[in-house]
Amino acid sequence: MTILQLISQRASAALDAVGAAGAPAHVQPASKPEFGDYQINGVMAAAKQLRCNPRELATKVLAVLDLAGIAEKLEIAGPGFINIHLDRQFLADKCQLALTDAHLGVELPTRRRVMVEYSSPNLAKEMHVGHLRSTIIGDALARVMSFLGHEVVRANHVGDWGTQFGMLTAFLVENHQDDAGLALNDLEDFYRKAKIRFDESPEFADRARDYVVRLQGGDEQVLQLWRRFVEVSLAHCQAVYTTLGVGLGREHVHGESAYNDDLPVVVEELTRAGLLTENDGAKVVVLEEFRTQDDKAMGVIVQKKDGGYLYTTTDISAIRYRHATLGLDRVLYVVDARQSQHFQQLFTICRKAGFAGDMQLQHIPFGTMMGDDGKPFKTRSGGTVKLIELLHEAEERAFALVSAKNPDLEEGERRHIAHAVGIGAVKYADLSKSRVSDYIFNWETMLSFEGNTAPYLQYAFTRVQSVFRKAGDYDAAAPIVLEEAAEKQLAVALAQFDDVVLAIESDCYLHGLCQYLYQIATLFSRFYEACPILKSEGALRASRLQLAALTARTLRTGLDLLGIEVLDTM
Ligand code: ARG
Repeated sequence: MTILQLISQRASAALDAVGAAGAPAHVQPASKPEFGDYQINGVMAAAKQLRCNPRELATKVLAVLDLAGIAEKLEIAGPGFINIHLDRQFLADKCQLALTDAHLGVELPTRRRVMVEYSSPNLAKEMHVGHLRSTIIGDALARVMSFLGHEVVRANHVGDWGTQFGMLTAFLVENHQDDAGLALNDLEDFYRKAKIRFDESPEFADRARDYVVRLQGGDEQVLQLWRRFVEVSLAHCQAVYTTLGVGLGREHVHGESAYNDDLPVVVEELTRAGLLTENDGAKVVVLEEFRTQDDKAMGVIVQKKDGGYLYTTTDISAIRYRHATLGLDRVLYVVDARQSQHFQQLFTICRKAGFAGDMQLQHIPFGTMMGDDGKPFKTRSGGTVKLIELLHEAEERAFALVSAKNPDLEEGERRHIAHAVGIGAVKYADLSKSRVSDYIFNWETMLSFEGNTAPYLQYAFTRVQSVFRKAGDYDAAAPIVLEEAAEKQLAVALAQFDDVVLAIESDCYLHGLCQYLYQIATLFSRFYEACPILKSEGALRASRLQLAALTARTLRTGLDLLGIEVLDTM
């Protein structure tokens, strides 16, 4: 059990014993050292419910609260808070255990098959900044789920099907079909030219439409061109993933086209389930639980009048596949918040049709990345920013910073550091804010060596490492002893790692982990100033080195879960 779970359990039992059964204990880490290490905040509400004096109730709770071996001091504060000062030996034991455990003392939950679907760009164009958040957040979630022992299935649900591909393959035939790689070197440019041609020439537009029909009909010649296009486009994506250090490869691509053959079956099954109605020739699922502005039940089209299928139809098919074939327990869709309604409707349809069984389906939404002007991030001229260019700019900016800081390092070494710092900064700037809010992309703040940033944390890690370089041999099994306040505060925070990581498993918010790592780095520097490590001796020196070792492991593990590299020197 985590410390939070342990105290909550004991606090609930105590509330139970004083007649406030079921009242939430509301246990939290204390917000200030004066309030102890943890606080029970639920007594006031319980008192209200029982119509009694909160401080009196707190006294009664305190009398029955059993935290033997966990807390060394309990006190009532303010209107009825209960402050808990953790027992030093208990804390030391917990830290000691974390040091020797591969999972830093986190008790692994029941193993489940969890899919994280993320990135999922449309292949008709090059990846742009709009795909950055899904890629970064999704990858971090996949890392956390694996760390917690789940069987993680990564999925890249790329948009590789639909009418645009008719236009693009037709254009590819017209222009250098012999060297697709060259023609598609700049996908943006290729798309733009194809679109101009499509709009200008009715003859070309007809050919493009004919290609769509042939593509969907399985015409081998057109399919081959389409495949070539998809290959090149995926290679562009792969360059982004490699630069970002994101765990997506070709084996995770399961695009929209993969579901093509199943789409008529989906319509049949929905008909069989009695969920389809016809509306003006289109096949529609009417959902009473979703209302239009004028309070009518909303309809979700799954097949158009002309026989064509839609985005939702493909997603329904994907759910059938993920349930029946992959046997997943949980699917996380890391997709822009603007698609919220799509997912809620999708999940509702699949539940009603029985396509998902008890597989848990969750949309993990996120807000928009904004420029300094508070509008969606664009180039100076208002165009979309290519993701690969943005990432290269991050590396270049970091290189300039590192070179200014450390001009004597070899260039290769500076490039290596710049890559870790630049990419780390971009990821951390995103992950450290609540994912549901929009956030402002700003080079200066994200690359700063001060404040809650990746460079600050990476630098903090190198500082801990440097202690070990100077320390020489030490006893890695030495007992941890917590005497100074700075030692204890650091230990309390280190002992919260399991709570922080397990919270992500349920709510999929990553900014809490960022805030936590920042707190660890700050508490470590306070400890480092207040408690000499290398100058102390014997058991004390060994104990402090143990705390430093756990700090290093916590920072390294935490940053790794976020997909951020650490360095030994910077
Ligand atoms: N390709 C879509 C887009 O770029 C995102 C796909 C999200 N995933 C899904 N299963 N619908 O907007």
